[in-house]
Amino acid sequence: MTKPSILITRAIFPEVLEQLGQHFSVESNQVDTMWSPEELAQRLQGKVGAFMTGTEKVNAALLAQCPQLKLCANMTVGYNNFDLAAMTAAGVLGTNAPDVLTETTADFGFALLMATARRVTESEHYLRAGKWTRWSYDMFSGAEVHGSTLGIVGMGRIGQAIARRAALGFGMQVIYHNRSRLDAATEASFNASWCSKEELLKTADHVMLVLPYSASSHHTIGAAELALMKPSATLVNLARGGIVDDAALAEALREKRIAAAGLDVFEGEPSVNPALLTVPNVVLTPHIASATIGTRRAMAALAVDNLVGFLVNGKALTPLNPEVLAQQGA
Ligand code: DGY
Repeated sequence: MTKPSILITRAIFPEVLEQLGQHFSVESNQVDTMWSPEELAQRLQGKVGAFMTGTEKVNAALLAQCPQLKLCANMTVGYNNFDLAAMTAAGVLGTNAPDVLTETTADFGFALLMATARRVTESEHYLRAGKWTRWSYDMFSGAEVHGSTLGIVGMGRIGQAIARRAALGFGMQVIYHNRSRLDAATEASFNASWCSKEELLKTADHVMLVLPYSASSHHTIGAAELALMKPSATLVNLARGGIVDDAALAEALREKRIAAAGLDVFEGEPSVNPALLTVPNVVLTPHIASATIGTRRAMAALAVDNLVGFLVNGKALTPLNPEVLAQQGA
């Protein structure tokens, strides 16, 4: 029997090709070419599924050109590359990869927080430039992390994993803002209390953004919000580019209206607003919060399980638009 055809859109662990090859005829992209939307549409011809990495836009225009497509499986938890309404209308299921990256991503949130508050990269650049000639009492003094107040915007799985580290590891007080409140026992387990976004921004010593990107979270932090923060405060964006107005942030950092920022995600990435590259008080990393080999393997494995589960056995593990399953009686 001929195997159904699928596309893997970016380079990936060789075992993924092998596992998917047991069930499907696989077209892959191990040379890792960045395909244009036109090329992606062309490569998807005749494919029933796609293994994706969260960077490929799946919208009505693409779907109209790919009538055989049934499933797009992201190996990422974020899925702002999917127009879910258009996918549902076209009867195409989307899946993501939640849970498996939670702890690794929370670790990195702390790495960025520590690097930002304690000026790790700024001081390293100084040392590498040969500028360090003597110890001095206030050189690169930063902000206290332990015992301070952490404001978390977005309190899903990753936000909660960060809150746990903050409360139990660093004795921090945690305040958070989220559409829905956690139950009292969960709040108490990491010493957290809900507050409005405005109160959080005014009160927190460190602000961490871990909310999903959508039209309604676009520029959650812009000039007005930055103006509410303490001049000594730091901001970490671990979520998605577009949640912060990067131009407004660069200006606030240059004018020292907040102390520092740590950014793993950027508006229009992989391009980075040039103004951010010129301010010293920002730590910049290239979207690596989930990047450990073990976690990336687990993320890829979940996408494989979704492809095999749905296209071979009719059951997806982590569907984003389960209405499609209902339409198909699955
Ligand atoms: C995700 O899974 O959404 C991450 O941002 C990619 O590492």
